[in-house]
Amino acid sequence: MPSLPERIGFMGKGLSGKSARMRYGRFDDARREYVIHRPDTPLPWINYLGDDTFVGIISNTAGGYTFYRDARLRRLTRYRHNAAPADGNGRYIYLRDEATGEYWSPTWRPTQTQLDAYECRHGLGYAAIAGTLGGIEAQTTYFVPLDETLEIWAMRLTNHRSESASLSLFSAVEFCLWNAHDDATNFQRNLNTGEVAVASSTIVHKTEYRERRNHFATFSCSEPLAGFETQRDAFLGPYRGWDRPQAVERGATSNEIGVGGSPVGVHHVRLELQPGETKRVVFVLAYHEEEFPARDSSGRKAPDVDAARRAVDVFLRPARVDEALTALREHWERELGALQVNTGVPDMDRMVNTWNAYQCAVTFNVSRSASRYESGIGRGIGFRDANQDLLGCVHMIPDRARARILDLASTQLVSGGAYHQYQPLTRQGNDEIGSGFNDDPLWLIYAAAAYLKETGDTSILDEPVPYGDDREASESLYDHLLRAADYTTARLGPHGLPLIGRADWNDCLNLNSHSSDPDEPFQTVSLHDTDVAESVFIAGLFCLACNDLVEIARRRGDEATERRLRTAVERMHTAIDTVGWDGDWFLRAYDATGAKIGSRENAEGRLFVEPQGICPMAGVGLDDGRAASALEAVDRDLSTDHGLLLVQPAFQAYRPELGEISSYPPGYKENGSIFCHTNPWIVIAACRLGQAERAWDVAMRINPSHREAISEVHRCEPYVYAQTIVGRDAADHGRARNSWLTGTAAWAYVAATQWILGIRPTFNGLTIDPCLPPDLDGFEAVRRYRGATYDIHVERGAVPGDAGVIVRVDGDPIEGQILPVFHDGETHTVHVMLGHAPCEGAP
Ligand code: GLC
Ligand code: GLC
Repeated sequence: MPSLPERIGFMGKGLSGKSARMRYGRFDDARREYVIHRPDTPLPWINYLGDDTFVGIISNTAGGYTFYRDARLRRLTRYRHNAAPADGNGRYIYLRDEATGEYWSPTWRPTQTQLDAYECRHGLGYAAIAGTLGGIEAQTTYFVPLDETLEIWAMRLTNHRSESASLSLFSAVEFCLWNAHDDATNFQRNLNTGEVAVASSTIVHKTEYRERRNHFATFSCSEPLAGFETQRDAFLGPYRGWDRPQAVERGATSNEIGVGGSPVGVHHVRLELQPGETKRVVFVLAYHEEEFPARDSSGRKAPDVDAARRAVDVFLRPARVDEALTALREHWERELGALQVNTGVPDMDRMVNTWNAYQCAVTFNVSRSASRYESGIGRGIGFRDANQDLLGCVHMIPDRARARILDLASTQLVSGGAYHQYQPLTRQGNDEIGSGFNDDPLWLIYAAAAYLKETGDTSILDEPVPYGDDREASESLYDHLLRAADYTTARLGPHGLPLIGRADWNDCLNLNSHSSDPDEPFQTVSLHDTDVAESVFIAGLFCLACNDLVEIARRRGDEATERRLRTAVERMHTAIDTVGWDGDWFLRAYDATGAKIGSRENAEGRLFVEPQGICPMAGVGLDDGRAASALEAVDRDLSTDHGLLLVQPAFQAYRPELGEISSYPPGYKENGSIFCHTNPWIVIAACRLGQAERAWDVAMRINPSHREAISEVHRCEPYVYAQTIVGRDAADHGRARNSWLTGTAAWAYVAATQWILGIRPTFNGLTIDPCLPPDLDGFEAVRRYRGATYDIHVERGAVPGDAGVIVRVDGDPIEGQILPVFHDGETHTVHVMLGHAPCEGAP
């Protein structure tokens, strides 16, 4: 298959005039790192530190910020979103040559001094950024040790000169006054609240501890200090930015403890380095929470700094740092070890083995709260998002997935519906956004089913879970799932299809909003609840989720429910067949007047991709040619070199009856971009039809590693999926936006591993049912599953008779393709022999 740049003939210039084929780095697969060779990437290319407890975002030039659990309510450091230059504020270190007064940032930003050498290695949970200037090499590794609420900046400073070097080193963070929203808006108060203290080499940020907080931050250094700063203005000087702080220029700090203003933590360290000498300097930024707030000798509330320092100071020792980093690496090897594959295709292998799996873990941890596109104060944990995110990592972290499912269920409403979002710290549904996105509850069923297929742990179904709007009313998770299904069947419209409510998966298809007021957000506008607008997508999702729920009910021996749901699914299926089919593809919806959307009758918005994916995934249209016809239409009308468009033709003008979708210029976001989340659905639909080549082709077009060769066009990080790639209606077609926190991660992973490679959990065990393109002759994989490890070898070869596939486990042929469940902690060898014929299409 031709490579992407070959296919699209990209030999010309990218958006900034650089060669479109330009790369900014390379994959180091053995170390599971992406190595960036130059600091001026098209956008800051970020990575995540920590898990869901202590989290940091870090760019390739050390920009970013840190929070404890909740990016809105417990922000440790400030970040300036949407600022110029981009990526303002971070974990900065300045070096100053005392002999000349020259100073620079070894991470390039913020001084942007031209370095003699630069390299950033983004790895799993860490970033190591190295910069050399004038023979002074500084490499800083930033990471959060496992199970700690602190981040380490471990610096290795080497003098490559032939003379000794006398250096000053300044570290700098700007503290956030905890509540990031208030911090960015409420200056009349918060310019008067900042409080800090300094104890030896530790700077303490204790704003509001005096009143209602029981937490504070410390910023520590392994070296004795020559000085410190605690106020931004004192450090930078008036009218200056982080690119030329006055204290660094001067080579001396003020050593004053400021109150109010903008608190910062700056250490000043002086070092003499002999020729060839390396020194290690460690900084630790930590969050401390006390069960009972401490008091000082005069009885006033005051943080217990001694205790905090005892906890933190161990990490200032380089040996302890190395141990913690090794433990972090081992942790990721263990987690990723749940599935490793070898297909011989680097774009596939490195995404499945490392980057896509890692992105799934990150989206699981932070949902849609904090990235360069999510400010951390807008959205918390999204109900539908979090349910989908866990599809991509339930095999790596089943216990955490279990806990997440129960958390999500506890924000479900008695009606069966769901709060659309909740704050991670409080686990309270977010009233500002409210509910009424009518697809939301169904995703809970789908996620719970994925957990059951992975683990076989049916005990989760009997866990008592309260409701978001009635904490006293506790029911089993199973009952929650039934309410989720009933929520849909109780809300059917005139055609017998589910009512769409505020929106379905497509947040921007707002058929009941009819908003003409620019000051009301589309997400919260009051609805014209017409009980008319219906969604074919929700109908498909209902079938998909409830196929599983029927099976769950059957296994519980709940025959009445099984029967009732089976009938509901059949009815829904029939409704899609009769009123959800447009002749060549699945319709998208009916609007509030009952008119069709996503139909050949429409001049704009004729074909939407979502139902063409979800309906075949649910088994709709597989036997009667409809699914095949829908995929042909997708191929004909939605396919571009950069992936499949969400809708065509895009909407040219704002249409109140359609809502936010038509608010975007054509080619952007929901209005006809390549909304990547939907592409894996088509991959899965193609696999269900046995269309292996199509599945592979669609998967590769959005594969970030495959697109690395056109980084200057793509612009986002080449190691993770982005939410959208600009569609062909716009001039910058091919440009990615909104990387990292997207449902694309989980679905791309599911599509590649469970459908193309076919390693798929079922209620009965793991099935191996590959759908490989003709030029892939097989692959190997290691999969951990229900307490055993499967060493899988898939080969295309001669399969005798009419047996499509032959599967041998530990040498013996088995009936069918579902592997026995062993629970024995052992490794079992699996040989799968595929016939030469194209794959059949899975049941
Ligand atoms: C965003 C939202 C997701 C929604 C999608 C399509 O990715 O996080 O919930 O389904 O947009 O509108
Ligand atoms: C906007 C975006 C959509 C996202 C939603 C979340 O509508 O277009 O992608 O899901 O905001 O609030």
